[in-house]
Amino acid sequence: MSSSNPALVRDVQKRRTFAIISHPDAGKTTLTEKLLLFGGAIQMAGAVKGRKASRHATSDWMEVEKQRGISVTSSVMQFHYADHVINLLDTPGHEDFSEDTYRVLTAVDAAVMVIDAAKGVEAQTIKLLEVCRLRNTPIITFINKLDREVRDPLELLSEIESVLKLQCCPITWPIGMGKTFRGVFSLQKNRLVRFTAGEERLSGEAHETIEGLDNPRLDELFPLEMPYVRESIELVEGATEPFSLERFLAGEQSPVFFGSGVNNFGVQDVLDALVAWAPSPQPRDAGARFVEPTEEDFTGFVFKIQANMDPRHRDRIAFFRVCSGRYQTGMKVQHIREGREMKIPNALTFMAQDRVIMTDAVAGDIIGIYNHGQLHIGDTLTSGEKLAFTGIPNFAPELFRAARSKDPFKAKQLQKGLQELGEEGAIQVFTGEFGNILLGAVGQLQFEIVAQRLSTEYKVDAIYESTDVSTARWLSFPDERTRKDFEAEQAARLATDVNGNVVYLATSIYNLETTMKHWPQVTFHTTREMN
Ligand code: G4P
Repeated sequence: MSSSNPALVRDVQKRRTFAIISHPDAGKTTLTEKLLLFGGAIQMAGAVKGRKASRHATSDWMEVEKQRGISVTSSVMQFHYADHVINLLDTPGHEDFSEDTYRVLTAVDAAVMVIDAAKGVEAQTIKLLEVCRLRNTPIITFINKLDREVRDPLELLSEIESVLKLQCCPITWPIGMGKTFRGVFSLQKNRLVRFTAGEERLSGEAHETIEGLDNPRLDELFPLEMPYVRESIELVEGATEPFSLERFLAGEQSPVFFGSGVNNFGVQDVLDALVAWAPSPQPRDAGARFVEPTEEDFTGFVFKIQANMDPRHRDRIAFFRVCSGRYQTGMKVQHIREGREMKIPNALTFMAQDRVIMTDAVAGDIIGIYNHGQLHIGDTLTSGEKLAFTGIPNFAPELFRAARSKDPFKAKQLQKGLQELGEEGAIQVFTGEFGNILLGAVGQLQFEIVAQRLSTEYKVDAIYESTDVSTARWLSFPDERTRKDFEAEQAARLATDVNGNVVYLATSIYNLETTMKHWPQVTFHTTREMN
């Protein structure tokens, strides 16, 4: 099925699509900004700062929401580096939006993990890495903030190995730290890159390099430290495995770089590793078969929806990962879930601060498609055969609230607003015989965002009440008869989600287990594929 079209093959091979994962405050925003500076996508440090608020308290988040244009355009960033096209996908920093993060991670081919060298492996990093592991996503590690007093680097590597079960392969090694941070020694190139503080250094003004560990210039510069440095590098080389591209691509080994994001030090190493080692777009599971990125037919899937960008028009942008073929303006595609043809008149691409009309996109690229609600998360579009990409699940929510409109005359509006926010993936929405609409979330902040958006975008103020629901499971039945029997017995505990799937609402884990025992022929799912 692969293409013999050399231009398509060449363009696909030049794509690198990745996300940065980290615990809040480790330096993701700073690293993003420096990567964009290298890529020439922004001219000034500080340009990405607005995004940072997304991890803070609700009030800050709302502030960012007010500037939705900015928060959206920076959620996908495309730039050029070393004759490659790099797509950097942003992931929400706050753990309450972990579902959103998961979906973004289904659309990348690699990830850069940022670790704060003073703190080591933190809670959010562990969770995000678990998600990457589900797809064996290759991980490049950047250990940040070496300009501060930090932990022993060997100890950090051993923590990554034991906690994250990811073998580390240092490609560079730090010399000193904090006030005596001298630079990083490239174990592969056998040379020291000298550290100098200062934000604005770019590739054009390279840091001083000193070739060879035996170079007398090193003894001149750091006479007291060099004997110890040589000893420790020897130790590291002896104690760590050599880099294996194969193991990295299998998600088993991570090349590790040290640096200081804020000083723009060590950042280019990460970019060079992305270009040299990270995979170009990979084949994707489309249920019936895997789709090769160089196939001529255009295919892809929606992994994120951002709605009501412009409050005057209820438009939404669907973020669509191209999996094969080439997008061309105005092309017609099959909307698989709806079983009908759809035209994509104007797709967008995202260049740091700007949204630009996209005229050409291949596998690995992300395009933004304007629509009025026809596209849902998980939807597949193809220009050829009928396929449906898999792997974008909904997670069973753990937090529940019943919603009703303060003004009874606005009940319809509330329903419409929640239906749309549910389709967007902002919250899970269930309806059933119990009357009020039930909202399910993975994180508390989701409720607050939804309440605020309902009020500003749909002009409905709602009352949110606690419920006796404590967990939910999607259901599947072996046959119609079992379905009918189950539905007759459990009617009061059943609901449907925005896509019409049946869900069992349990009051407690005990309640769930009892029902599962009574109905061994029914399958209770904790996740559901979103299409
Ligand atoms: P995040 O997106 O992962 O949450 O982290 P972010 O980049 O916002 O960085 C968190 C804080 O750590 C920021 O300081 C940032 O300047 C600082 N930082 C990032 N990289 C380095 C580094 O290499 N060395 C040092 N010393 N600090 C670093 P802040 O005080 O929270 O914000 P700001 O006032 O500096 O912007």
